[in-house]
Amino acid sequence: MSSSPSTSPSETLDRDYAAFLEAYPTYNGTTALDAIRATEFRRLDEQGIIYLDYTGGGLYPASVVVDHAAFLTSHVLGNPHSINPASALAGALIERCRSHILTFFNAAPDEYAVVFTANASHALKLVGEAYPFQPGDQLLLTFDNHNSVNGIREFDRAHGARTTYVPVEPPDLRVHESRLERLLGELPDRSTASAHNLFAYPAQSNFSGVQHPLEWIAVAQAQGWDVLLDAAAFVPTNRLDLSAVHPDYVALSFYKMFGHPTGVGCLIAKRVALEKLHRPWFSGGTITVASVQGDRHFLADGAAAFEDGTLDYSNIPAVDAGLSFLEEVGLERVHERVRCLTGWLLDALGRLRHRDVSPLVTVFGPLTTERRGGTIAFSVHDKAGTAVSHTALESSAAESGIALRTGCFCNPGAGEVALGLSPGELDRCLAASGARMTKDDFGRCLDGGESPGAVRVSLGLASTFADAHAFISFLRRFLR
Ligand SMILES: Cc1ncc(COP(=O)(O)O)c(C=O)c1O
Repeated sequence: MSSSPSTSPSETLDRDYAAFLEAYPTYNGTTALDAIRATEFRRLDEQGIIYLDYTGGGLYPASVVVDHAAFLTSHVLGNPHSINPASALAGALIERCRSHILTFFNAAPDEYAVVFTANASHALKLVGEAYPFQPGDQLLLTFDNHNSVNGIREFDRAHGARTTYVPVEPPDLRVHESRLERLLGELPDRSTASAHNLFAYPAQSNFSGVQHPLEWIAVAQAQGWDVLLDAAAFVPTNRLDLSAVHPDYVALSFYKMFGHPTGVGCLIAKRVALEKLHRPWFSGGTITVASVQGDRHFLADGAAAFEDGTLDYSNIPAVDAGLSFLEEVGLERVHERVRCLTGWLLDALGRLRHRDVSPLVTVFGPLTTERRGGTIAFSVHDKAGTAVSHTALESSAAESGIALRTGCFCNPGAGEVALGLSPGELDRCLAASGARMTKDDFGRCLDGGESPGAVRVSLGLASTFADAHAFISFLRRFLR
């Protein structure tokens, strides 16, 4: 990994690449993606950007955007709620995309429906606000959840239901499974048909990359739970097969899978699970009939009842194209490439040692590629073990053209455990605040410094060995 003064950077890269291929021979089967990188994602290399924020947002292939623009400029699309030709075309394209989504996720159309949303958060909110929580019901969450899932607790509390959290444990940041099994088995009102209990967790952590078992879905359902699977961070590089697992609700954002369009996500829901939801209002597009003088409305059937107003009909056809792109490229190939690069990065991070052999980096999460995806969170330390400011590191990376993230990535539960923040410390700071608290206030209260956080790099569709290698070279600057 390290280079002698006589070795040029490109010789070091070549030598390390050869060693990488020996350690991860299956990467050879993914080199078709190098050609795709050179064409579809050429802009990265032209601009010298090392993109390591795929969990934040995927990158769009150039041809999908060009083809989509050509399609838009050569067709007339109109608001789909009508039968005129422009409207009919938009409506047909929306339905084609809806059925493509079901096919992509191997979901049976008589079992699942697709509700178009603005993003994963919107899909999660649709479930949260309409789930029929009542006193005695429970929302069970893993500590490791995005805030867009944590926020559902506000809905269940408003209806007198209870929120329970199951912790993740350091260093791997996985859930203690026997604890989860106990909580899943503790439903007080299991026998009552009117009891509604929801278990929500991410298929892959956007903090640590941990892949929580999909087997939990059937286990929870067998004990009377409905399951909401947050698949936002999982589906860009992993196959979600809805004929093998059957969550009640699945939330995702398409820009995380293929970059374009932003502003379109979906809720894939079992048809019976959609029927269970009680929409808190009605709007244009969601009803069959509404009367002002009669003061009644009738909701449309299925997905339509959840799609408020006009869908993003000029962008939804690009989702269809994005899914086709992933199918052509091969999601399994992307998965394997990301797995190999993740493994190499984890190995390389572990080998970064100061002269006195103290580690430069502490990884938060699993140290091998087993049951984890291509998202790696860590902190960087000086020789004395003091953490380097994550915001300063982000600025320094930005100056080197490296796109990464720092902070807690909207996942406070995983972050608190990773960074060792105790409930007592958190309570003291949160209770001491008034109605408003800034990140800086929070940081000052906790340790007198910047708000606590980690550094996160994440890999995806267009990642190459050179990207991973350049990042490790960048981190060498912090070695003393
Ligand atoms: C696991 C996970 N869930 C939900 C979200 C929210 O996605 P969006 O911001 O697209 O609504 C994200 C975004 O990073 C995520 O990683």
